[in-house]
Amino acid sequence: STPIQMPDINPPSALSAGQIQSMLELTDGDEIDALSREARWMTLLHCGRTVYFRGIIEFSNICDCDCRYCGIRRSNGDAARYQLAKGEILRQARWCADRGFGSVILQSGERRDACFVDFVTDVVRSIKRETRSAILPDGLGITLCVGEQSRETYGRFFDAGAHRYLLRIETSSPRLFRRWHPARQTFDSRLRCLDHLRSLGYQVGSGVMIGAPWQTTADLAADVAFFRDMDIDMIGMGPYIPHHAAPLAAVGVDAPAVRLRRALLAIAVVRLVLKDVNIAATTALQTLAPLGREKGLASGANVIMPQVTPASCRKNYTLYDDKPCGDETDPGFQKALESRIRGMGRTVGRHQWGDSPHVFHRQ
Ligand code: 5AD
Repeated sequence: STPIQMPDINPPSALSAGQIQSMLELTDGDEIDALSREARWMTLLHCGRTVYFRGIIEFSNICDCDCRYCGIRRSNGDAARYQLAKGEILRQARWCADRGFGSVILQSGERRDACFVDFVTDVVRSIKRETRSAILPDGLGITLCVGEQSRETYGRFFDAGAHRYLLRIETSSPRLFRRWHPARQTFDSRLRCLDHLRSLGYQVGSGVMIGAPWQTTADLAADVAFFRDMDIDMIGMGPYIPHHAAPLAAVGVDAPAVRLRRALLAIAVVRLVLKDVNIAATTALQTLAPLGREKGLASGANVIMPQVTPASCRKNYTLYDDKPCGDETDPGFQKALESRIRGMGRTVGRHQWGDSPHVFHRQ
């Protein structure tokens, strides 16, 4: 009899930057549909039908950086700054665990002072301790997204129990990076951080903004090749959306529909090239289309990050204008989201960390 055909765990695709770029430039509806279909098939083959929920807790918008695109940049004096107390973060994390989310993302502005580092370390340790249960013996999975830190700090966070880290490179072009950031934030330092995270044993996520000023499809194609060459485990990318108080808002960009299309194409292309990584359908997609995240899932994403930041703060975590701040802990919202996911032939992963399959293939 014929042996059972096991799915081939292919190495990442060796498509050239030129081939990647032509996929990112598709405009014909039928061709885009065909590409998304391929990407969906690749998702099922390598990651299965499961969509993982990660509750994202944006615990502070206080930031020492001055990224020229971002609404919570240090020099935006109009941003109402906040910092959640440990108890509030724990309450949201417990809510996630009770709802069956396997993991949470703790995100904030970037700070490197000892007070901040101690706080984050303590919060991570407490979440791990308090969310252990029979069904989740190791507690919630914890992903940190608190920017560039020293290797030692990353080590402390890891020892406290964080096992994934998101640090977007924002662009793989050093030239664009320089135009988007003030001189003291450097591309090389960002790269060094990604190396530290990897060598400490984190599952490493990165990503870029799509459609930001001066970015070409050739730049974006290079970004996809960068993720492949850096052996990145998780990808979070979304369209650039101007923030009125950020300097880059003065620079013209493509129309929202073009940025949305390109962001969805980028997800599909990353899926086709990297194959077995986790890809998030990000909140910025939802800013450009009410069901943008669902479109992301239909283009090859397999992770969704409901915002579980307490309502009073959510409206101040304004990285860009019109960031959706609906109550995603509302049971009605949750039910509707889950039923849309099931309607796409997918299921919702419960009580599992939902690590990127790439992590296991990399070892
Ligand atoms: N538009 C889209 N994404 C943005 N981010 C920051 N500002 C913007 C913006 N104006 C993204 C960055 C950062 C992440 C937390 O938010 O990519 O890494």
